[in-house]
Amino acid sequence: MNRETSRDLYDRALGVLPGGVNSSVRAAPQPYPTFVRKGDAGRIVDADGEKYVDWVMGLGPLLLGHDVPDAVQAAIQRRASEGPMYGMPTEVEVEHAEFIARHVPSVEMVRFVNSGTEATVSAVRLARGHTGRDKVVVMQGGYHGAQESTLVEGDGDETAPSSPGIPASFAEHTLTVPFNDEAAVTEVFEAHGDDIAAVLVEPILANKGIVEPRGDYHETLRDLTEDHGALLIFDEVITGFRVGGLSCAQGKYGITPDLTTFGKVIGGGFPIGAIGGKTEIMEEFTPAGNVFQAGTFSGHPVTMAAGLETLTYAAENDVYEHVNDLGERLRDGLRDVVAEHAPEYSVVGTDSMFKVVFTRDGEAPRNGAAVGRANVQRWNRVFRPQMLEAGVMLSQNQFESQFVSDAHTATDVEKTIEAYRDAL
Ligand SMILES: Cc1ncc(COP(=O)(O)O)c(C=O)c1O
Repeated sequence: MNRETSRDLYDRALGVLPGGVNSSVRAAPQPYPTFVRKGDAGRIVDADGEKYVDWVMGLGPLLLGHDVPDAVQAAIQRRASEGPMYGMPTEVEVEHAEFIARHVPSVEMVRFVNSGTEATVSAVRLARGHTGRDKVVVMQGGYHGAQESTLVEGDGDETAPSSPGIPASFAEHTLTVPFNDEAAVTEVFEAHGDDIAAVLVEPILANKGIVEPRGDYHETLRDLTEDHGALLIFDEVITGFRVGGLSCAQGKYGITPDLTTFGKVIGGGFPIGAIGGKTEIMEEFTPAGNVFQAGTFSGHPVTMAAGLETLTYAAENDVYEHVNDLGERLRDGLRDVVAEHAPEYSVVGTDSMFKVVFTRDGEAPRNGAAVGRANVQRWNRVFRPQMLEAGVMLSQNQFESQFVSDAHTATDVEKTIEAYRDAL
């Protein structure tokens, strides 16, 4: 495959963009990232005109794929042609909030923001304001965006910032536990229960392999938070309106969190985040309450129109049946390939998310640390480049999830399974 234009663009980018990109993970592919010219249904065309089946799907937002249906396209263009934004409210943001509240049982009110990071920052602030406490519990290997309170490493209350530029005092308020470990989180609550404002958890770890909850893990988190007067915040930035259909992962697992953060899919491919929850807590946000929250672009009309039309289209067109069915076919096919060629690897995922983690023992990982022990070098340097050469674009590193869209077809699935078979 000819990749010269991507190489030259990356060379230029390195002169003006730190690391050549605007978000770190994009630079992970070796030796340089693929620059995209355009999307085409379930595929992308790169800057050199090469075509790939695309399982990155914008890192999750593109539930409908790259070819936006006519109704969504029309809504976006109509809004954009009426002036991009106003700094004043519009009807479409009310409609979008009503849609979310109608479908997600734990949500009565919504505050829209502009990214998943902003959503988790604001949710943590709201939880701290609501409880009058400072500490938050997060999962090792969980990801909640580029926010100070969660860019933390360590174990229990022995934590430190995971990036320069974050004061150590921030990490003092963050407690970290392994996902799926009921004893560890119970211990943390026994030691710090009166100081914990919230547990912030992805219902499924989706940035470090795909790790699903085991047994009653989320029920345990729900019970512990309730017993200690802390909030349970589900970070559904990835899983929201992707896993569990319109009721999200919380619907699939039958858990009612106090707050939920959304992003990705609800913006229909435009920048978005949101916090949702019961009125009693949500009305503590300014201007109804005192917990400050604001944003020039929040509730942006073009984003609102794109997001609302995307979700409406998904609700009316069997989108979840299609993407979940293809997801199942992919996972089934990959399980056969792995059993035959690499029994030490693990096929993980649910609904429209899938991944082969290069584990060393064939055991599906139960937490972020187990995913971290995977054979990352082989995945990065040998396997992913082979898949690229075969015309299959996988996630940019071994840890991120891959996503099925409504635009993908059975042919894309078959081509991908064959490429895995050849590469493994
Ligand atoms: C679970 C989760 N939370 C929060 C974020 C941050 O979202 P954003 O990149 O839109 O700031 C991400 C991003 O991937 C995410 O996966």
